[in-house]
Amino acid sequence: MNDIYQTHSKNYLMNTYARYPITLLKGDGAYVWDANGKKYLDFLSGIGCTSLGHANPIIEQAIFEQVKKIVHTSNLYYSPPSIDLAKYLVDHGGLDKIFFCNSGTEANEAAIKLARKYQWRKGKKNKNIILSATNSFHGRTLGSLAATAKPILQEGFGPMPSAFKYQSWNDTKLFCDAIDENVAAVILEPIQGEGGIQIAPPDFLNAVRSACDAADALLIFDEVQCGLGRTGNLFAYQTMNVIPDIITLAKGIANGLPLGVVCAKNHIADAFKPKDHGTTFGGNPVSCAAALANLTTLLNQDYLHKIKKLSLYLMHRLEKLKRQCPTQIKTIRGIGLMIGIELTIPPTAVLTHCQNSGLLINVTAENVLRMLPPYVITEEDIDFAIDVIEKSLKIASY
Ligand SMILES: Cc1ncc(COP(=O)(O)O)c(C=O)c1O
Repeated sequence: MNDIYQTHSKNYLMNTYARYPITLLKGDGAYVWDANGKKYLDFLSGIGCTSLGHANPIIEQAIFEQVKKIVHTSNLYYSPPSIDLAKYLVDHGGLDKIFFCNSGTEANEAAIKLARKYQWRKGKKNKNIILSATNSFHGRTLGSLAATAKPILQEGFGPMPSAFKYQSWNDTKLFCDAIDENVAAVILEPIQGEGGIQIAPPDFLNAVRSACDAADALLIFDEVQCGLGRTGNLFAYQTMNVIPDIITLAKGIANGLPLGVVCAKNHIADAFKPKDHGTTFGGNPVSCAAALANLTTLLNQDYLHKIKKLSLYLMHRLEKLKRQCPTQIKTIRGIGLMIGIELTIPPTAVLTHCQNSGLLINVTAENVLRMLPPYVITEEDIDFAIDVIEKSLKIASY
């Protein structure tokens, strides 16, 4: 049903998103409700953001308390929530030093700048190339877009910043050969999200780590989508067993509030001096208070263990579904609660049927149904989701 928000959206918002005809008004746990009162299971967490569910009472409390104290300080002064959060991240595997910004693309911009400045400070002024993987997605601002190896997304926005190059990770040798003396950094998603839930092969990541060490290039892991519990560990690098030099985070960090993070090893972080980089809202006290509540809940309430258990159950149900729908499903890929179903049939009708049946997922990389459910789902929620997907696949293929 069309509503006033959808009409006004067309009139007043720039046309950057092909939105679904659903207006969401409220959420609770793994569920959201639209303007008609229809209830949906949110199996996407607003694209990997509301990991601990909507209206999470612990996070709400932290937000309310911070809002009552102060909502903005600027970065001219010290602010406890950002400093507490930085310490918490470092104490739990977030390398040595933290920079806060507001989004994933900004985190990648900062990481790229940090890598180049690091090489520049070492006197290697021509060591400025950023190498990324084909099919990657690192964001929409110009630097991150230049690292995003998808010509269609860059089209019409040129010229792109220079000294970015791409290589497929399907050929480890070719990729590693591209890490030459002019490469400042390699940026990789350990699991490509927008690229269709493609998992970087472990051997590939190990080989890239060694090649970066040999060429004195930095390794950046873009964990914007796959980090912060998605893989069953706080950081995706802990799941992949390869330690990067820089990590970028966003999406799931503050359970839906905007916050981006760059984590770096000490000697690299030192390359940034005052005036080198910054952003007005970076480290916002409300976002940081939400993030700290989010991360402490994630770790103290044993969510990492729950994610691994839920993942096993979800994968088991999906493998069964694949056997039942061999003509509609090509492959199932994923780790933890970051899972894609690659279809052999067009996805639009499947997705529409899922939405009509009260299940929110989305389609990425043309034909992959993507699931990034919140960590608060139950096995019953999984059963519901799989039943809906099964019916949707069958109806869509008539
Ligand atoms: C891996 C990855 N990096 C970067 C981004 C960009 O994040 P944002 O939309 O917060 O700028 C995304 C967003 O989808 C992402 O998945």
